[in-house]
Amino acid sequence: MYRLICVNCGYTYRKDEIIYECRECGHLLAVEYDLKNIQVSLEEWRQRPLSVWRYRELLPVSGAPVTLQEGGTPLYHLKRIGEELGLPHLYAKHEGMNPSGSFKDRGMTVGVSMALELGKKVVACASTGNTSASLAAYAAKAGIPAVVLLPAGKVALGKVAQALMHGARVISVRGNFDRALEMVHELCISHGLYLLNSVNPFRLEGQKTIGFEVFDQLGRMPDRFVLPVGNAGNISAVYKGYKELMDLGFIEKIPKMTGIQAAGSSPVVRAIEENLPAVVPELSPETVATAIRIGAPVNAEKALTAIRSTGGTAIRVSDAEILAMQCSLAQKEGIGVEPASAASVAGIKRLVEDGALDKDETIVCVVTGHLLKDPETVIKQCKPPVEVDANLTSLLSVLQL
Ligand code: F0G
Repeated sequence: MYRLICVNCGYTYRKDEIIYECRECGHLLAVEYDLKNIQVSLEEWRQRPLSVWRYRELLPVSGAPVTLQEGGTPLYHLKRIGEELGLPHLYAKHEGMNPSGSFKDRGMTVGVSMALELGKKVVACASTGNTSASLAAYAAKAGIPAVVLLPAGKVALGKVAQALMHGARVISVRGNFDRALEMVHELCISHGLYLLNSVNPFRLEGQKTIGFEVFDQLGRMPDRFVLPVGNAGNISAVYKGYKELMDLGFIEKIPKMTGIQAAGSSPVVRAIEENLPAVVPELSPETVATAIRIGAPVNAEKALTAIRSTGGTAIRVSDAEILAMQCSLAQKEGIGVEPASAASVAGIKRLVEDGALDKDETIVCVVTGHLLKDPETVIKQCKPPVEVDANLTSLLSVLQL
């Protein structure tokens, strides 16, 4: 049992209303469960396979979900990077290991399942890339059309390839992500398409399971939970999930929610630094981490609550720090991620260097998308392969063993 509730004024809506913002005050909506009537125990959950659907009592879908077997991603101990930073308890949750290569699949299995449950025939989103790749795949699985709007020239190659191959209608908008999101929102309201950006409260329900899995995999709660922040949906979702576990009496504390943004695109960091009541949108965000190239994060209101109420923080890292950490993760830990994903670990390095971290903390960084998403940025950073004639002498002359 659940309903939708406005996070600002508390006005409630029936669960089957197609609505993306409060009609009373225009603020964000969230799914609110009747937790007193939820009958489940941690032991029961832990007997099920590790996946989004392990936690189905805290998800809004009632029938069989549209699933590609999302979730159940690895939690790695970052041994070498942790040693370098003096952090013995540093972990990375590799969300690039989801079916379409990013954490978005957790939201889309729930969001597309809800689209069908609500009788919607066409799904849509704006995206910096990963949301569109994921939506395209889940719409294909569901057998319904998807429309995706991308900021022209600013989406990594692998993501565009995925959206195209899974059969979405892919539209390049001459404008940035923030404008594309406004456009698709308008389109969905005027033409009845189902909007699956993170203003959709159901999608965020799937994403909160990252936090649940971390709790199950570690066997305890981390002290700090670190995410790259773009539209600020993911950090809000994980916080909401942990609050539910608290209310159910399953956990006693919520980790310090820590958001990392790229220096050229960091409105949430500014709001935290200057203690602003809301973010001031940035009109021309820019970063090599195109996934988080967002100036007006729609979930900022929820994210600021998540960060402030847990004693967390938000900091910015430069593109150079992001790319250096992408290399470190790949070469010291064997973990291949796209630039935005490396921002979480780069942010921890920065906090260590600033002396702003207790080194005994158990820290979990979410690395959000796979290395193959953005091959062009990878190739630019690496030396090209050395070409040799097809004989052993040439090979040995190059290898110099
Ligand atoms: N990391 C990656 C790889 C992403 O693709 C995104 C968001 C984020 C982090 C930030 O998550 O928006 O919940 O704060 N990508 C969206 C997209 C915007 O369209 O794919 P957030």
